[in-house]
Amino acid sequence: MLEGGRDGGGGRVKSLRAVGRGYIYIYIYRALAILSFLSPLPRRIPPTHPPTHSQHTHTHTSIHPPIHPSTRTMADSIPSEMRALTVPFHASPDRLQVSTLPVPSILLPTDVLIRVHAASINPIDVKKAAGMTRMLETIRFPFVLGQDVSGVIVRIGTEAGDFQVGDEVYTPLRKGGSFAVPLPSVMMALVMVHMRGLMLSDYFFLRFPAAAADYVVTSSKHLCRKPVTISHSLAAALPTVATTALQALTRAAARQPLGDLTGKTVFIPGALSGTGHIALQLAKRVFNAGHVITTASPGKIPRIAELLGEGTVDQIIDYTSQDVHEKIEKGSVDFVFDTMGGAQGYFSLVKPETGVVISLATVPSGEQAAAVFPETPWAIKIVLNLIDAWYQWRARRWGVGMYEFFFPNTETYAKDLEKVAWWVGEGKLRPVIGRTARLEDLEGVIAGCTEVKSGKGGTGKFVIELV
Ligand SMILES: NC(=O)c1ccc[n+]([C@@H]2O[C@H](COP(=O)([O-])OP(=O)(O)OC[C@H]3O[C@@H](n4cnc5c(N)ncnc54)[C@H](OP(=O)(O)O)[C@@H]3O)[C@@H](O)[C@H]2O)c1
Repeated sequence: MLEGGRDGGGGRVKSLRAVGRGYIYIYIYRALAILSFLSPLPRRIPPTHPPTHSQHTHTHTSIHPPIHPSTRTMADSIPSEMRALTVPFHASPDRLQVSTLPVPSILLPTDVLIRVHAASINPIDVKKAAGMTRMLETIRFPFVLGQDVSGVIVRIGTEAGDFQVGDEVYTPLRKGGSFAVPLPSVMMALVMVHMRGLMLSDYFFLRFPAAAADYVVTSSKHLCRKPVTISHSLAAALPTVATTALQALTRAAARQPLGDLTGKTVFIPGALSGTGHIALQLAKRVFNAGHVITTASPGKIPRIAELLGEGTVDQIIDYTSQDVHEKIEKGSVDFVFDTMGGAQGYFSLVKPETGVVISLATVPSGEQAAAVFPETPWAIKIVLNLIDAWYQWRARRWGVGMYEFFFPNTETYAKDLEKVAWWVGEGKLRPVIGRTARLEDLEGVIAGCTEVKSGKGGTGKFVIELV
């Protein structure tokens, strides 16, 4: 950044100016942060109940947000502090730690406070912690890992729909959910919006998914009652992978001229991966696919029928020693749901004109990335659009009816999870957990997160238990 270059120092001056501008932002931000501590929002709305743990009342009073007068609370105690699985800076799982943070508070009438019983870890959680998305978004440290939770509502806003304190719920925390921090002044909110590329809805509260913590605040709009027949740990394994798989299969089934997936040939690699194991069950038992093909490493092949149910999968390919192009007839597959990032290699397997390929793990287009990560720089958007255009061109050359990278629509989460809970109750869908660890077992948590980050060896989901 500070190199002079051929202009004899002009580049350096420009760079220094840019650095100077950066410092001005930082100083403005720090000044506003100090002001925010001098005139904190909590004083304006007095709490309605006394803190239960008196030893905690002296800490975090300036940043611990208010309890809105119109909230309903569970009779038993809610502490002012909680445990959370964090990284102090961008780091790999071996730097994970259990930190003490203030319990987040309800800020909007639609919010609920959940006592988290279990949280599952997805690849994106460890990727974010490691800084792999840092060009697309700024994250706040300490960064709390996780976005999938199952737990019990312990406090509720006045407009939280049909939910009650005591309800057992599960949800994927996303934008607008979770660890809420009030921004104490309009000006600070505007500075943050400018610096972080936030959206209008984020003007007054910054919210971060933060599942692996004793408590989370989230919007009741994304919430669903947990399936009654399964534990919190199993329920926590579902939200992200089940909503993603359901939406992707629905999208493929709605694509004309494919029409639906009934009786069709579907190829979903990664039989016992997080998304793969759910997608395979949905494909066979909900979408009534005819011939379901998958891949797995040899050690996992004997476990597939036991874990997913007899007859869920019709053909299993050992991806470590066999070539899918030899095992699957060219041009015979109606739908490929690429959960492992090999979409391009599967184009030749797809039926010309009608075949659909949806990928979770290639590259989003610039517009898709910006919709999920509003801070995406324009240069990255251009690069992503070029890569996506190349994928589209390759897909067209093979005559693929539709190829696209897929991000789920967060607006339909609650409805999706209702369906998922119904299918779990009917026995059509069973989440698989390969590994669990209690939050206090940091070694176990690190081992689980390391496995998720490697993308190898895991079976189903890794779940952290908190209660
Ligand atoms: N776009 C989205 O919104 C979205 C949503 C969810 C997930 N994703 C992405 O989708 C990818 C998969 O997520 P996930 O949660 O399903 O991953 P995961 O559960 O962590 O995947 C690991 C599993 O995949 C198996 N595996 C690894 N390479 C394989 C291969 N080439 N063929 C078959 N199986 C293989 C591993 O077992 P073995 O080592 O024994 O083979 C392990 O069981 C990740 O990149 C994730 O970030 C994207």
